[in-house]
Amino acid sequence: MKAIEVKNLSKKYATVPALKDVSFSVDEGELFALLGPNGAGKTTLMRILTTQIDPTSGSAKVFGNDVRSQSGEVRSQVSYVPQEMSVWSDITAYENLLIYAKIYGIPAKKREDAIQSALKTMDLQNVSGRMVNTYSGGMVRKLEIASAIMVEPKIVFLDEPTIGLDPSARKTVWDKLRWLNRNKGTSVFFCTHYMDEADLYANEIGLISKGRLRKIGTAEELKSSVSNETITIEATGLDSGIVRGISGLPHITGARVTGKTLRIMAINSDEAINPVMNLLISTGVKVKSVSSSKPSMDDVFLKYTRGKGKEQETAIADIKRARDRIRKA
Ligand SMILES: Nc1ncnc2c1ncn2[C@@H]1O[C@H](COP(=O)(O)OP(=O)(O)O)[C@@H](O)[C@H]1O
Ligand SMILES: [Mg+2]
Repeated sequence: MKAIEVKNLSKKYATVPALKDVSFSVDEGELFALLGPNGAGKTTLMRILTTQIDPTSGSAKVFGNDVRSQSGEVRSQVSYVPQEMSVWSDITAYENLLIYAKIYGIPAKKREDAIQSALKTMDLQNVSGRMVNTYSGGMVRKLEIASAIMVEPKIVFLDEPTIGLDPSARKTVWDKLRWLNRNKGTSVFFCTHYMDEADLYANEIGLISKGRLRKIGTAEELKSSVSNETITIEATGLDSGIVRGISGLPHITGARVTGKTLRIMAINSDEAINPVMNLLISTGVKVKSVSSSKPSMDDVFLKYTRGKGKEQETAIADIKRARDRIRKA
């Protein structure tokens, strides 16, 4: 079963195109990242998938249900955590969850269990009686996720889940999302402009820029689509015969010697390194140092999102505002 199936999806706000002919699918149980710069169309896509706005053309299905003609079914299976703060700060965490439990229509008899289970999952049981305005940004985010999971969604959508959080709070939020994904089988679909976050936590990444989905794949696939990995070896006794020998080894796409430096291009440097070292040792080359470099998610981001028309400047003011709202809670 596909968690998400999008075909030729386009969205215009009046005359402003926000999504252009987007097609992709996400398997059930995945942790999927939509990565792209500000103004790329990430929030628009999430809002369509969670039935908050309609597409202009094309189709989108969530667990087989069409977001337009079966929006009720879709809503019963998804939860959405918006980028903006979505809990009240002048009441307690528990009271927030009680309000959400009522909004979601959780029957009175089941509310207490749903609330306690969400608090437990997010590690907020001991602080549930505190006013949210005494919470840190990370705790607020966890509370928002707690309110989203009370209905036990099959998939949770999160818009920039860790924006404005410090590194340790970001990690805590991710530990919780990963726990949900692994232990409850909840699919996770998040959008971010943090490359490291997509790289670290997503099974699959979709790169979006200027309303178009540019590329989709695992972090490894995306990186190897950008360029080869490079192995650099400093050694004495190198010659052209060795270069030819190395060029013929598996996983190697090229090799050259400049002075005492041997540069090798490899599809997979981890796999390539042993045969290379064996060959060098057997031919009496004295190796002084070995290093390797792999393309990074930054390289991927630049390749697929730069030069695709003028992106909107990152809206620093927006991010600051969101951060302030979370901090002040
Ligand atoms: N309600 C709206 N009315 C008009 N234009 C909008 C609206 N929401 C978003 N846009 C425009 O659509 C494009 C995509 O926006 P958005 O989906 O918010 O991108 P992202 O979440 O990747 O930053 C941007 O050019 C943005 O200015
Ligand atoms: Mg957005």
